[in-house]
Amino acid sequence: MSQTPSARCPFHAATDAEIAGAVADFDVFEGPFTVDPAAAMRLFRERRPIFFSPKLGYWVVSRYEDVKDVFRDTGAFSPANALEKVTPSSAEANAILASHDYAMNRTLVNEDEPAHMERRRALLHSFLPAELEKHAPMVRRLVARFVDRFVDRGEADLVDELLWEVPLTVALHFLGVPEDDMEVLRRYSIAHTVNTWGRPSPDQQVAVAEAVGNFWTYSGQVLDRMRLDPSGDGWMEYALRRQRELPDVVTDSYLHSMMMAGIVAAHETTAHATANALRLLLEDREAWDEICRDSALIPNAVEECLRLSGSIIAWRRVALKDAEIAGQPIAAGERILVVMTSANHDGRHFENPDMLDIRRDNTTDHLSFGYGAHQCLGKNLARMEMRILLEELSRRLPHMRLAEQRFDYLPTISFRGPDHLRVVWDPAGNPERADDRARTPRPLHLLGSPPRSSLARPVRVAAIEALTDDIRQITLVDPEGRDLPLWSAGAHIDLLAGGFQRKYSLCGDPADRKRYVVAVKREAAGRGGSLHIHGEVRVGDTIRILGPKNLFRLPDGSEPIVLVAGGIGITPIIAMADRLKSQGRRYEVHYCGRARAAMAYADRLERDHGAAAHVHASREGRRLDLAALAGAGKDMIVACGPDRMIDALQALCADAPDRLRFEHFSAVETLLDPSVEAPFEAELRDSGLTLTVPADRTLLQVLREVGIDLPSDCEEGLCGSCEVGVVDGEVDHRDMVLTAKERAENRRMMACCSRSRTGRIGLSL
Ligand code: HEM
Ligand code: FES
Repeated sequence: MSQTPSARCPFHAATDAEIAGAVADFDVFEGPFTVDPAAAMRLFRERRPIFFSPKLGYWVVSRYEDVKDVFRDTGAFSPANALEKVTPSSAEANAILASHDYAMNRTLVNEDEPAHMERRRALLHSFLPAELEKHAPMVRRLVARFVDRFVDRGEADLVDELLWEVPLTVALHFLGVPEDDMEVLRRYSIAHTVNTWGRPSPDQQVAVAEAVGNFWTYSGQVLDRMRLDPSGDGWMEYALRRQRELPDVVTDSYLHSMMMAGIVAAHETTAHATANALRLLLEDREAWDEICRDSALIPNAVEECLRLSGSIIAWRRVALKDAEIAGQPIAAGERILVVMTSANHDGRHFENPDMLDIRRDNTTDHLSFGYGAHQCLGKNLARMEMRILLEELSRRLPHMRLAEQRFDYLPTISFRGPDHLRVVWDPAGNPERADDRARTPRPLHLLGSPPRSSLARPVRVAAIEALTDDIRQITLVDPEGRDLPLWSAGAHIDLLAGGFQRKYSLCGDPADRKRYVVAVKREAAGRGGSLHIHGEVRVGDTIRILGPKNLFRLPDGSEPIVLVAGGIGITPIIAMADRLKSQGRRYEVHYCGRARAAMAYADRLERDHGAAAHVHASREGRRLDLAALAGAGKDMIVACGPDRMIDALQALCADAPDRLRFEHFSAVETLLDPSVEAPFEAELRDSGLTLTVPADRTLLQVLREVGIDLPSDCEEGLCGSCEVGVVDGEVDHRDMVLTAKERAENRRMMACCSRSRTGRIGLSL
């Protein structure tokens, strides 16, 4: 194994004593966390991903996969403490609350199974996309009315004049609550947030308790009035009608708590999230200008802002039994703070995680809405509101700018958004003064995940070079000469050209923000994508790409790595070799092919990687002995190549499968041919829904249509991110993720490509 000098990251340079000090000082109400929570979590995420905070009394979880695992496992980690007060109330404040008979109890968000799912199912109807769509015209009218009030003024505080009022009005409308007392409700609602998630001083506690007590009384009174005639369209009216059918599931105490918690859940979250999004977009003028020009980018821009700066930055769980999070034992009864904003900045899941990239194609994987059984029910309403707010502002006030200001945030453990957001513009430049058509809303995708087609990024072909007879290197640049998003070794982009979409690993210099380099092999027997790229794409053409995205990451840590490439599989592997060299890690790289003349980058590999590089050209009698390589030690093997090479390595590493990380470069055929496919029924056992998956749609598409967001990366059976649990029914597996044994067990399937063999399938969703 060869070794080269190391380039160390500052977070990795922190000493153990420094990390212990940071753990001891960790505070969510003071210091760096209040200024920039995601940045403050970075040291922990890299060096101490799970730690016990003595000041807080919680285990703090910071990495994407660990946060998701905690959310997923409701059997081990209960949400019962989600609405508990972080700062216990004083005796005086408690007395005030008692005088109002304050009894905030279980609502959906802090309820354990199986009661929670039973209730969630009973109350789901109002959140189905078809129901939510009915609110869209009202939201449009409302936003336009509020913007009319200040559009000619030249300055506004968007928080005070738009972002609180719209989500609060929508929330009341959604719940069926009359729109009186808006100002009072806003005050109550802030008090409830401070009471639950903040650190009020003893004096503040008294005022807060008074407001919270009044909020409780008010919620009860609204409910009592509603009971007289619960025939309206609101969610609470629907819940009252369900109570008649299911009195044990939808109880009185539950309804009262839900009324109060619902007002906060539905408006404060959305108000803060939109304020955060506008701040981010206006600070990044290019991104703002792009959404002003093209409204199709808005849905993904909303998700990207929720990822980078969501309004709920952390959430709580309590261990129901002795459990583990990524190997860290957690005792029954211990409390856990999952920091979603940290997970959302985790470079293990998101490429260049701190950058705002409104075309990022896995941004909806963010955890700002939670994940799993309790994932935010209102997410599609929130998304709709945020999209409409951004559309209206970017169309009518594209020239607005942030005013000079200091941003203040109420310190809480969970909620985050600026108290004010002041903007200025020149009303003489309002587009509607020049052209009345600027008053007409642009097309907007209102419900569910953003469509993937909107994420494509235009790039110009700057150079094409022949590397071998059938491999061409293509260099792509931004058409305006701007920087391209950063990428990490193993990342790929999808090239969209001539109606084809094909994935190619990036193999240039990751530090060069001005160009992407890919190598495309001409596959005469392929489906036409590479032939099109070789035959039709010319220097100077503008084509579109998706990504970059990384589904094939280098393992973390410092252990030695053996890289193995077969044929064009060299492209991610050479980027990995470059990375390992720059990190000073021990590695060797083996590159196999038939003849050296047909092996792209063989010379570069040897030149740049010296003794670590081994080129095996079989026609020259230098065939790689995979068995000897796999048997030689216990080193991690990372491989990319044709199926037969990967299959052989899998068989050789069968006794220790974790030693092997691989990527196939041939994808499964994912285009559905409706004349060959059969429709099937998917029974979602946890949600009580039965869906029909038609012959021309995937299970993933159909789930998304009813508002169930499954994460997905590759959408062609390669990455495993869209996995769902199977309860019964036989699966027609079409992915390349599951092993033969796992397929035979029939306990999970990939929703993006696999189907049912038996016409019906039961899923744990
Ligand atoms: C639950 C975030 C808007 C209703 C949650 C949870 C989070 C969250 C983090 C807990 C998830 C978990 O424990 O896994 C947000 C954010 C919003 C938003 C960031 C805005 C950007 C809304 C809206 C509504 C709503 C507009 C109602 C119309 C709910 C409900 C739950 C919930 C009912 C409880 C679901 C359950 O436990 O089954 N939300 N929310 N939320 N949210 Fe939202
Ligand atoms: Fe990658 Fe389904 S999204 S396997």
